[in-house]
Amino acid sequence: MLLTDKTVVLGITGSIAAYKAADLVSKLTQAGAKVEVIMTESATEFISPLTIRSLTARPVVTGMFGQSLESAIEHVALAEAADVVAIAPATANVISKLAVGVADDMLTCTVLATRAPVIIAPAMHTDMFQNSITQDNLVKLKARGFIIVGPVYGRLATGTVGIGRLAEVEEIIATVKQALGRSGDLVGKRIVVTAGGTQEPVDPVRYIGNRSSGKMGYAIAEAARDRGAEVKLIIAPTSIPAPADIEITQVETALQMKEAVTQAVTQADALIMAAAVADYQPRSAAKAKIKKETADLSLELIRTPDILAEVGGNLVKVGFAAESENVVENARSKLEQKQLDIIIANDITDVDSGFGTDTNKVTIINRDGKTESLPLMTKREVADKILDRVVGLLSPKH
Ligand code: CTP
Repeated sequence: MLLTDKTVVLGITGSIAAYKAADLVSKLTQAGAKVEVIMTESATEFISPLTIRSLTARPVVTGMFGQSLESAIEHVALAEAADVVAIAPATANVISKLAVGVADDMLTCTVLATRAPVIIAPAMHTDMFQNSITQDNLVKLKARGFIIVGPVYGRLATGTVGIGRLAEVEEIIATVKQALGRSGDLVGKRIVVTAGGTQEPVDPVRYIGNRSSGKMGYAIAEAARDRGAEVKLIIAPTSIPAPADIEITQVETALQMKEAVTQAVTQADALIMAAAVADYQPRSAAKAKIKKETADLSLELIRTPDILAEVGGNLVKVGFAAESENVVENARSKLEQKQLDIIIANDITDVDSGFGTDTNKVTIINRDGKTESLPLMTKREVADKILDRVVGLLSPKH
């Protein structure tokens, strides 16, 4: 999701991780968000408001009565303007204040006055985080609907290793998007997405694989998450990091993917199969490494199940057709054969489309014949176009 037209109120509190907030501000701004930053007094000891102001090109609120934005009652103004409030990093101190409703500075006043979702990204020393007071406060905040992201395990400023590190910036941004998606058009819908390319073992070191990068499936899973869906992502091996805040099942082979999909779809409203599933697997994988003892080697391959064709039920089924010739015709016949609601055809011979690229040029075909050839777009844009169609089909079917 691009964050255009969204106002993110970001609170920075006095933790050494405050410097990471600069990266967060920068990435949120690049994604199009209007970022209004409130820094507590102690945060300004760790990072200069000038750094933040240079990134947002907006005034930074640092005190209750000092610098002013447009209005004299800033705390209500920012609380009302916010589509989401995030506190990153959040100290044990601010967490305990929020848990009991203390509002003694601009940040805590804003949180108390807002109706927007509030995200808290704690960062502190392990012992402070594990202290039962902090833990109780977090439980209280969670129960009131606050969203807690992190902290994570890792190296802390004190040089020790433990839980207490600020969640990764990407994870915090994913949480922001998810919070914004709470009012999206896929709220309450369960969507299963597959991604990556299956690997069929030949022996303990070799496999039959394909060139799928997983990028298209990941883009769909992220877009669905950002529109409020509950997403289950089934991943065959890829080399790119998995999206944050999505339930993930890792599989390797077509058979494992079939099992995972069959289980996941029992509760689902839609299945989107972006994975490249092997059509054949070796009849049996050798237990030991195959040695080059013969001049030639033949492998006996057997068919794998066609997952999409075999999965049934009252759900919207979406498939992909990676084709190198007669793209649309072949895709239409796959739509029929596999009883799909939507098929996305892409020409893998096109240099900007298909495997490994960040862009894709696709034709989306619905069962009723509605066909749309889209221009070259980012995979994320394609994902949203596909989901627009899914949303259109979900309502009457469910
Ligand atoms: N698919 C599947 N199970 C398989 C093979 C493919 O569920 N064993 C799904 C893919 O995830 C994709 C769609 O079916 O959404 C079409 O995949 P594709 O590889 O284009 O088509 P195939 O059915 O394998 O046909 P062919 O390889 O002959 O083009």
